[in-house]
Amino acid sequence: MSKNVLILPGDGIGPEIVAEAVKVLNVVNDKFDLGLTLEEGLVGGSAYDVHGTPLPEETMNKAKASDAILLGAVGGPKWDNLEDRELRPEKGLLGLRSGLELFGNLRPAILYPQLADASSLKPEIVSGLDILIVRELTGGIYFGKPRGIRTLENGEREGYNTYVYSESEIRRIAKVAFESAQKRNKKLCSVDKANVLEVTVLWREILEEVSKDYPDVELSHMYVDNAAMQLVRAPKQFDVMVTGNMFGDILSDAAAMLTGSIGMLPSASLDKDNKGMYEPCHGSAPDIAGQGIANPLATILSAAMMLRYSLNEVAAADAIEEAVSKVLDQGLRTADIFSDGMKKVSTEEMGEAVVAALS
Ligand code: IPM
Ligand code: MG
Repeated sequence: MSKNVLILPGDGIGPEIVAEAVKVLNVVNDKFDLGLTLEEGLVGGSAYDVHGTPLPEETMNKAKASDAILLGAVGGPKWDNLEDRELRPEKGLLGLRSGLELFGNLRPAILYPQLADASSLKPEIVSGLDILIVRELTGGIYFGKPRGIRTLENGEREGYNTYVYSESEIRRIAKVAFESAQKRNKKLCSVDKANVLEVTVLWREILEEVSKDYPDVELSHMYVDNAAMQLVRAPKQFDVMVTGNMFGDILSDAAAMLTGSIGMLPSASLDKDNKGMYEPCHGSAPDIAGQGIANPLATILSAAMMLRYSLNEVAAADAIEEAVSKVLDQGLRTADIFSDGMKKVSTEEMGEAVVAALS
């Protein structure tokens, strides 16, 4: 049975890195006889430029009809000053996440041993690092209403957002986190701010409740400020971390840097049936867009996650991950992970090297 993959390159470096991931997907598609059909769509600023909206109906329909989605990145200075905030590129991404109910965001931070020197932390602190951040992706302060910027009676303006989580939203992400922990080292750290925020008092309570169904997983709780500190102090204490949308956004960037570069981190955003959208954790990096120097590995590894989680093609996923490890062994490095003695390569050369390592 043929499976449809929707490719959404997006903005900035998005098209450059996605092009390399598509080459890799085409190779495994043939090699493993996967029967994948790839189709492209527009999202973000590039969609706005053509259709006047960052999430055209056509893209949403294609996304709904697809078996999985691979996305590059969205956003850029060109669209930063759009008067109507609903038309900003980021709204395209957020619209896809919420429209497809992709509430479970998995962000693995794994240090490739070859890159221990690229981390800004000492090798002994990060070597062997393997953390999974489970981020709630369709709720919390990102989506809470009311929200906006209003003018008060005294003429001063005020910005406001709403931090809200329902019990069911907390319960379903908790299950994803406990199940992920069961497949790993069975340690789950839930990150909240229960000393200040009621939302996370409830979050903590529900996590305790759900933990009764997973007696083999050891649950702990940590305030987000401490978690940020612990991530850079002693990151190897963590196995799986689960947290809300905004804390997860912030902590996953910090965790990414432990691994040497955010250019290495893939992610999966899954719905309740494991249909998903896959994207690198990094943004559209407008400062380096068009220069051919971006690291395509996070996107290539996202394609591997897609094969593993949504398409059930484990052998093909393994092959891609091994190929990535092989090119790192060969000393090939894009600028973000470059260190002395290594060979600096372009986005395209890195993609081609992964393709070569696959055959
Ligand atoms: C991420 C990004 C997005 C987010 C932006 C681009 C809206 O930072 O995926 O982490 O905040 O979720
Ligand atoms: Mg982010």
